[in-house]
Amino acid sequence: MRTCWTTTESGATDRNRAGNPNGVRSSDGAGNRNGVGKRNDSESGRGGGTLPVPVSNETVRATYDRWASLYADTVARLEAPSKRRALDLLDPDPGTCVLDVGCGPGLTLGALAERVGAGGTIYALDAAPGMLADAADRVHRSGDAGRVSVLGGDARRLPFVAGSIDAVLAFDVLELFDRASLRAVLDEMRRVLAPGGVLCAVTMDRADVERSRFLRGYEWAYRHVPGFARVGCRPFDVPAAIRAAGFRIDTLERSRRMDVWPVVTVCCRPDGDDRIDPER
Ligand SMILES: C[S@@+](CC[C@H](N)C(=O)[O-])C[C@H]1O[C@@H](n2cnc3c(N)ncnc32)[C@H](O)[C@@H]1O
Repeated sequence: MRTCWTTTESGATDRNRAGNPNGVRSSDGAGNRNGVGKRNDSESGRGGGTLPVPVSNETVRATYDRWASLYADTVARLEAPSKRRALDLLDPDPGTCVLDVGCGPGLTLGALAERVGAGGTIYALDAAPGMLADAADRVHRSGDAGRVSVLGGDARRLPFVAGSIDAVLAFDVLELFDRASLRAVLDEMRRVLAPGGVLCAVTMDRADVERSRFLRGYEWAYRHVPGFARVGCRPFDVPAAIRAAGFRIDTLERSRRMDVWPVVTVCCRPDGDDRIDPER
Protein backbone atom coordinates (compact mmCIF):
# COMPACT_ATOMS: atom_id res chain seq x y z
CA MET A 1 0.00 0.00 0.00
CA ARG A 2 1.24 3.46 -0.87
CA THR A 3 1.78 5.64 2.19
CA CYS A 4 0.92 9.33 2.09
CA TRP A 5 2.15 11.91 4.54
CA THR A 6 0.29 14.53 6.46
CA THR A 7 1.48 17.41 8.58
CA THR A 8 0.61 17.58 12.24
CA GLU A 9 -0.65 20.75 13.91
CA SER A 10 2.90 21.67 14.85
CA GLY A 11 3.92 21.32 11.24
CA ALA A 12 6.05 18.25 11.93
CA THR A 13 5.73 15.39 9.51
CA ASP A 14 3.56 12.55 10.59
CA ARG A 15 2.92 9.29 8.87
CA ASN A 16 -0.80 8.88 8.38
CA ARG A 17 -1.50 5.50 6.90
CA ALA A 18 -4.78 4.74 5.28
CA GLY A 19 -6.98 2.54 7.38
CA ASN A 20 -7.79 4.99 10.10
CA PRO A 21 -9.94 2.81 12.34
CA ASN A 22 -11.76 5.77 13.81
CA GLY A 23 -13.04 6.85 10.47
CA VAL A 24 -12.83 10.56 11.23
CA ARG A 25 -9.67 12.43 12.12
CA SER A 26 -10.13 16.12 12.73
CA SER A 27 -7.34 18.63 12.40
CA ASP A 28 -9.56 21.51 13.30
CA GLY A 29 -11.12 20.34 16.53
CA ALA A 30 -14.30 22.29 16.98
CA GLY A 31 -14.18 23.11 13.33
CA ASN A 32 -12.05 26.23 13.36
CA ARG A 33 -8.37 25.64 13.96
CA ASN A 34 -7.55 28.08 11.21
CA GLY A 35 -9.14 31.14 12.67
CA VAL A 36 -11.58 31.37 9.80
CA GLY A 37 -14.78 33.03 10.68
CA LYS A 38 -14.69 36.69 9.89
CA ARG A 39 -17.29 37.91 7.47
CA ASN A 40 -15.80 38.28 4.03
CA ASP A 41 -16.77 41.35 2.15
CA SER A 42 -13.50 41.87 0.38
CA GLU A 43 -14.73 40.76 -3.02
CA SER A 44 -16.09 43.62 -5.01
CA GLY A 45 -17.74 41.54 -7.65
CA ARG A 46 -15.15 42.47 -10.26
CA GLY A 47 -14.28 39.87 -12.85
CA GLY A 48 -17.21 39.36 -15.16
CA GLY A 49 -19.81 40.21 -12.52
CA THR A 50 -19.05 37.27 -10.27
CA LEU A 51 -21.08 37.68 -7.12
CA PRO A 52 -19.18 38.09 -3.87
CA VAL A 53 -19.61 35.52 -1.12
CA PRO A 54 -21.34 37.72 1.46
CA VAL A 55 -20.79 35.37 4.40
CA SER A 56 -17.71 33.79 5.96
CA ASN A 57 -16.53 30.32 5.05
CA GLU A 58 -17.40 29.33 8.60
CA THR A 59 -21.02 30.25 7.89
CA VAL A 60 -20.92 28.33 4.62
CA ARG A 61 -19.60 25.19 6.22
CA ALA A 62 -22.08 25.53 9.09
CA THR A 63 -24.80 25.55 6.44
CA TYR A 64 -23.48 22.31 4.95
CA ASP A 65 -23.11 20.88 8.42
CA ARG A 66 -26.81 21.44 9.14
CA TRP A 67 -27.71 20.15 5.72
CA ALA A 68 -25.55 17.03 5.96
CA SER A 69 -28.29 14.52 6.73
CA LEU A 70 -30.36 15.67 3.72
CA TYR A 71 -27.61 16.36 1.23
CA ALA A 72 -27.04 12.86 -0.12
CA ASP A 73 -30.75 12.39 -0.86
CA THR A 74 -31.41 15.77 -2.39
CA VAL A 75 -28.88 17.91 -4.24
CA ALA A 76 -26.34 15.12 -4.52
CA ARG A 77 -28.79 13.05 -6.58
CA LEU A 78 -28.92 15.78 -9.20
CA GLU A 79 -25.16 15.77 -9.35
CA ALA A 80 -24.72 12.03 -9.82
CA PRO A 81 -24.18 12.03 -13.63
CA SER A 82 -21.54 14.78 -13.47
CA LYS A 83 -19.89 12.97 -10.57
CA ARG A 84 -19.60 9.79 -12.65
CA ARG A 85 -18.14 11.79 -15.52
CA ALA A 86 -15.60 13.49 -13.25
CA LEU A 87 -14.50 10.13 -11.89
CA ASP A 88 -14.08 8.80 -15.43
CA LEU A 89 -11.95 11.80 -16.35
CA LEU A 90 -9.88 11.69 -13.19
CA ASP A 91 -9.50 7.92 -13.53
CA PRO A 92 -6.85 7.38 -10.85
CA ASP A 93 -4.43 4.53 -11.40
CA PRO A 94 -4.35 1.51 -9.10
CA GLY A 95 -2.05 2.04 -6.16
CA THR A 96 -2.25 5.84 -6.22
CA CYS A 97 -3.16 8.34 -3.52
CA VAL A 98 -6.27 10.49 -4.13
CA LEU A 99 -7.56 13.43 -2.12
CA ASP A 100 -11.24 14.41 -2.29
CA VAL A 101 -11.37 18.01 -1.05
CA GLY A 102 -14.77 19.04 0.34
CA CYS A 103 -15.87 15.41 0.18
CA GLY A 104 -19.28 16.10 1.73
CA PRO A 105 -21.11 12.88 2.61
CA GLY A 106 -18.50 10.83 0.79
CA LEU A 107 -20.43 9.85 -2.30
CA THR A 108 -17.32 9.49 -4.47
CA LEU A 109 -15.32 7.43 -2.02
CA GLY A 110 -16.53 3.94 -2.95
CA ALA A 111 -15.83 4.52 -6.65
CA LEU A 112 -12.45 6.05 -5.90
CA ALA A 113 -11.50 3.18 -3.59
CA GLU A 114 -12.47 0.71 -6.27
CA ARG A 115 -10.29 2.46 -8.84
CA VAL A 116 -7.16 2.76 -6.72
CA GLY A 117 -7.55 -0.81 -5.51
CA ALA A 118 -6.07 -2.50 -2.50
CA GLY A 119 -2.72 -0.74 -2.89
CA GLY A 120 -4.19 2.75 -3.13
CA THR A 121 -5.19 5.38 -0.60
CA ILE A 122 -8.06 7.83 -0.50
CA TYR A 123 -8.17 10.89 1.74
CA ALA A 124 -11.56 12.52 2.13
CA LEU A 125 -11.37 15.99 3.64
CA ASP A 126 -14.18 18.30 4.69
CA ALA A 127 -14.73 21.11 7.17
CA ALA A 128 -18.29 20.25 8.24
CA PRO A 129 -18.50 17.69 11.06
CA GLY A 130 -21.94 16.48 9.91
CA MET A 131 -20.62 15.76 6.43
CA LEU A 132 -17.57 14.01 7.88
CA ALA A 133 -19.74 11.80 10.07
CA ASP A 134 -21.84 10.83 7.05
CA ALA A 135 -18.75 10.14 4.97
CA ALA A 136 -17.17 8.05 7.72
CA ASP A 137 -20.37 6.08 8.14
CA ARG A 138 -20.54 5.45 4.39
CA VAL A 139 -16.91 4.28 4.34
CA HIS A 140 -17.47 2.03 7.32
CA ARG A 141 -20.55 0.42 5.74
CA SER A 142 -18.79 -0.11 2.41
CA GLY A 143 -15.89 -1.91 4.05
CA ASP A 144 -13.40 0.52 2.50
CA ALA A 145 -12.03 1.82 5.81
CA GLY A 146 -8.75 0.06 5.13
CA ARG A 147 -7.87 2.44 2.34
CA VAL A 148 -10.08 5.49 2.92
CA SER A 149 -9.34 8.06 5.63
CA VAL A 150 -11.90 10.73 6.42
CA LEU A 151 -10.27 13.90 7.71
CA GLY A 152 -11.51 17.15 9.17
CA GLY A 153 -9.64 20.13 7.76
CA ASP A 154 -9.68 23.29 5.74
CA ALA A 155 -9.11 23.29 2.00
CA ARG A 156 -7.09 26.51 2.40
CA ARG A 157 -4.55 24.72 4.57
CA LEU A 158 -4.36 21.16 3.42
CA PRO A 159 -2.82 18.86 6.05
CA PHE A 160 -0.45 17.16 3.61
CA VAL A 161 3.16 17.70 2.77
CA ALA A 162 4.17 18.87 -0.67
CA GLY A 163 4.06 16.38 -3.50
CA SER A 164 2.29 13.62 -1.58
CA ILE A 165 -0.98 13.30 -3.54
CA ASP A 166 -1.38 11.85 -7.04
CA ALA A 167 -4.85 13.15 -7.81
CA VAL A 168 -7.14 15.75 -6.27
CA LEU A 169 -10.90 15.86 -6.75
CA ALA A 170 -12.86 19.04 -5.98
CA PHE A 171 -16.49 18.44 -6.77
CA ASP A 172 -18.82 21.42 -6.33
CA VAL A 173 -16.41 23.01 -3.91
CA LEU A 174 -14.25 25.68 -5.56
CA GLU A 175 -17.18 28.01 -6.21
CA LEU A 176 -17.81 28.31 -2.46
CA PHE A 177 -14.71 30.45 -1.94
CA ASP A 178 -14.20 34.14 -2.48
CA ARG A 179 -11.46 35.12 -4.89
CA ALA A 180 -8.62 35.27 -2.36
CA SER A 181 -9.58 32.03 -0.65
CA LEU A 182 -10.00 30.28 -3.98
CA ARG A 183 -6.45 31.22 -4.85
CA ALA A 184 -5.28 29.86 -1.49
CA VAL A 185 -7.15 26.58 -2.12
CA LEU A 186 -5.69 26.20 -5.61
CA ASP A 187 -2.20 27.01 -4.35
CA GLU A 188 -2.61 24.31 -1.73
CA MET A 189 -3.75 21.81 -4.32
CA ARG A 190 -0.71 22.61 -6.47
CA ARG A 191 1.54 22.23 -3.46
CA VAL A 192 0.31 18.79 -2.42
CA LEU A 193 0.19 17.33 -5.92
CA ALA A 194 2.97 14.88 -6.72
CA PRO A 195 4.90 15.16 -9.98
CA GLY A 196 2.52 14.37 -12.80
CA GLY A 197 -0.45 14.79 -10.47
CA VAL A 198 -3.91 15.82 -11.66
CA LEU A 199 -6.64 18.06 -10.31
CA CYS A 200 -10.20 17.40 -11.44
CA ALA A 201 -12.61 20.19 -10.52
CA VAL A 202 -16.33 20.38 -11.19
CA THR A 203 -18.00 23.72 -10.57
CA MET A 204 -21.00 25.81 -11.50
CA ASP A 205 -20.18 27.36 -14.84
CA ARG A 206 -20.38 31.09 -15.41
CA ALA A 207 -18.94 31.33 -18.88
CA ASP A 208 -22.37 31.22 -20.50
CA VAL A 209 -24.29 32.95 -17.77
CA GLU A 210 -25.53 35.61 -20.16
CA ARG A 211 -27.50 32.97 -22.03
CA SER A 212 -28.60 30.93 -19.05
CA ARG A 213 -31.96 31.79 -17.53
CA PHE A 214 -31.25 29.29 -14.80
CA LEU A 215 -28.12 31.14 -13.75
CA ARG A 216 -29.76 34.53 -13.92
CA GLY A 217 -32.53 33.20 -11.67
CA TYR A 218 -30.00 31.54 -9.39
CA GLU A 219 -27.98 34.74 -9.07
CA TRP A 220 -31.15 36.72 -8.40
CA ALA A 221 -32.07 34.31 -5.60
CA TYR A 222 -28.52 34.41 -4.26
CA ARG A 223 -28.74 38.19 -4.00
CA HIS A 224 -32.30 38.62 -2.80
CA VAL A 225 -33.66 35.53 -1.04
CA PRO A 226 -32.82 35.79 2.65
CA GLY A 227 -30.40 33.06 3.73
CA PHE A 228 -29.82 31.70 0.22
CA ALA A 229 -26.23 32.98 0.02
CA ARG A 230 -25.33 31.00 3.11
CA VAL A 231 -24.65 28.04 0.79
CA GLY A 232 -21.79 30.15 -0.58
CA CYS A 233 -22.14 28.45 -3.92
CA ARG A 234 -22.33 30.87 -6.82
CA PRO A 235 -21.21 30.68 -10.44
CA PHE A 236 -17.64 31.76 -10.93
CA ASP A 237 -15.26 31.51 -13.89
CA VAL A 238 -13.28 28.77 -12.19
CA PRO A 239 -11.32 27.68 -15.30
CA ALA A 240 -9.87 31.20 -15.50
CA ALA A 241 -8.98 31.07 -11.80
CA ILE A 242 -7.39 27.65 -12.29
CA ARG A 243 -5.23 28.96 -15.13
CA ALA A 244 -4.28 32.04 -13.13
CA ALA A 245 -3.15 29.78 -10.30
CA GLY A 246 -0.63 28.11 -12.59
CA PHE A 247 -2.41 25.02 -13.84
CA ARG A 248 -2.48 23.81 -17.43
CA ILE A 249 -5.93 22.61 -18.43
CA ASP A 250 -5.90 19.23 -20.21
CA THR A 251 -9.66 18.71 -20.45
CA LEU A 252 -12.56 21.12 -20.14
CA GLU A 253 -16.13 19.89 -20.56
CA ARG A 254 -19.29 21.95 -20.25
CA SER A 255 -22.62 20.33 -19.50
CA ARG A 256 -25.99 21.04 -17.93
CA ARG A 257 -27.48 19.22 -15.01
CA MET A 258 -31.16 18.49 -15.59
CA ASP A 259 -30.64 20.35 -18.87
CA VAL A 260 -30.51 23.71 -17.10
CA TRP A 261 -27.76 23.96 -14.52
CA PRO A 262 -24.46 24.76 -16.28
CA VAL A 263 -21.40 23.04 -14.90
CA VAL A 264 -17.84 22.81 -16.09
CA THR A 265 -15.49 19.92 -15.49
CA VAL A 266 -11.79 20.64 -15.70
CA CYS A 267 -8.83 18.29 -15.48
CA CYS A 268 -5.53 20.08 -15.12
CA ARG A 269 -1.93 19.77 -13.96
CA PRO A 270 0.49 22.24 -12.47
CA ASP A 271 1.88 24.21 -15.40
CA GLY A 272 5.43 23.35 -16.42
CA ASP A 273 5.31 20.21 -14.34
CA ASP A 274 7.93 18.14 -16.12
CA ARG A 275 8.99 16.33 -12.98
CA ILE A 276 9.12 12.60 -13.31
CA ASP A 277 8.25 10.42 -10.39
CA PRO A 278 10.02 7.06 -10.78
CA GLU A 279 7.35 5.38 -8.63
CA ARG A 280 4.53 6.29 -11.01
C1 LIG B 1 -21.57 21.48 -2.30
S1 LIG B 1 -20.84 20.45 -1.10
C2 LIG B 1 -20.06 19.23 -2.14
C3 LIG B 1 -19.80 17.93 -1.41
C4 LIG B 1 -19.18 16.80 -2.24
N1 LIG B 1 -17.99 17.21 -2.93
C5 LIG B 1 -20.20 16.24 -3.20
O1 LIG B 1 -20.14 16.61 -4.36
O2 LIG B 1 -21.06 15.47 -2.78
C6 LIG B 1 -19.45 21.44 -0.58
C7 LIG B 1 -18.64 20.84 0.55
O3 LIG B 1 -17.51 21.69 0.80
C8 LIG B 1 -17.27 21.71 2.19
N2 LIG B 1 -16.46 22.89 2.56
C9 LIG B 1 -16.83 24.18 2.67
N3 LIG B 1 -15.79 24.94 3.05
C10 LIG B 1 -14.74 24.12 3.20
C11 LIG B 1 -13.39 24.32 3.58
N4 LIG B 1 -12.91 25.53 3.90
N5 LIG B 1 -12.58 23.24 3.63
C12 LIG B 1 -13.03 22.00 3.33
N6 LIG B 1 -14.32 21.76 2.96
C13 LIG B 1 -15.17 22.80 2.89
C14 LIG B 1 -18.68 21.73 2.78
O4 LIG B 1 -18.70 21.34 4.13
C15 LIG B 1 -19.41 20.76 1.86
O5 LIG B 1 -19.38 19.44 2.35
